[in-house]
Amino acid sequence: MEPLPNEDAFKFGSRLLQEMLAVKPPSFEARLAQKAQAAHGQPLRVLSICSGTAQVEAALLRSVITPVHLTLADINADLLARALSYMPAHVSTMSLVQDLNGMKLSQPYDIVICVSGIHHLVELEHIWRTLHDHTKRDGELWLIGEQVGPKGNCLAEPEYRVANELFCALPDHLRRNSVTGEVDQSLSNKDLSETTFEGIRSDEIETSLSRFFLPIEVYKRNCFLWRFIDLIYYQNYNLSDPDDKQLLKLLVQAEYAHHISGGWATELHGVYRPIY
Ligand SMILES: C[S@@+](CC[C@H](N)C(=O)[O-])C[C@H]1O[C@@H](n2cnc3c(N)ncnc32)[C@H](O)[C@@H]1O
Repeated sequence: MEPLPNEDAFKFGSRLLQEMLAVKPPSFEARLAQKAQAAHGQPLRVLSICSGTAQVEAALLRSVITPVHLTLADINADLLARALSYMPAHVSTMSLVQDLNGMKLSQPYDIVICVSGIHHLVELEHIWRTLHDHTKRDGELWLIGEQVGPKGNCLAEPEYRVANELFCALPDHLRRNSVTGEVDQSLSNKDLSETTFEGIRSDEIETSLSRFFLPIEVYKRNCFLWRFIDLIYYQNYNLSDPDDKQLLKLLVQAEYAHHISGGWATELHGVYRPIY
């Protein structure tokens, strides 16, 4: 497999990994189309939480021509204003500026979406209970790109050991840290939740969720690959250079080998239904 024009190391690495794994992520577009069909022209009620600028939601909703009532909830009013400005015409929108740790909802939804947001929240039990009580019985919760690794978005010891060994063997130019400008001698494994809400209870997301929702379809990947191609390092890779490209492919293979031997995958894409 070769990089697509303008594909960066993050996108190329993620695509290679997805290709290798036999289980594929849920098709949220197809599920949305099914829900739209089942609604027989009635508006679909969709809630997005921690929606930020809601680009994934906008792209998804552009894929169906069905009336949608979309509620976007986030603590940041400026991000919500941007999101509302580019929603497609068949989508009527309202925004809820809320600290979702104290989530309050007032209507039932057909679909609740969260893209990479739950790992910022701490009151998981309250959030799942509130979402459960405001998801229709035949409704669904979609978690897209959620961080479910160890607390603080760290790597657990077995993942860190393998990842750091690989990292230390990389040439200097692939270990250049875009924040400090320095060449890192080892992979950082700081607990980000010590100073921010990043990954504050990421390791408890699935267990707390399982008391309120059952999985319909779950896909997980990324034990450690993301650490090599995240915002800190992805720009170091020149994908027209055969050596950089080959090293990235080796990292993807190492990730795959580790994952299928029981590694802790940290990225989750899942479809759930409320327990009744
Ligand atoms: C990683 S961003 C994801 C944003 C968007 N879903 C996306 O994928 O681009 C996390 C979002 O959660 C929001 N957020 C963080 N803590 C929150 C809280 N306590 N209540 C509501 N929103 C919060 C942030 O404002 C931000 O928009």
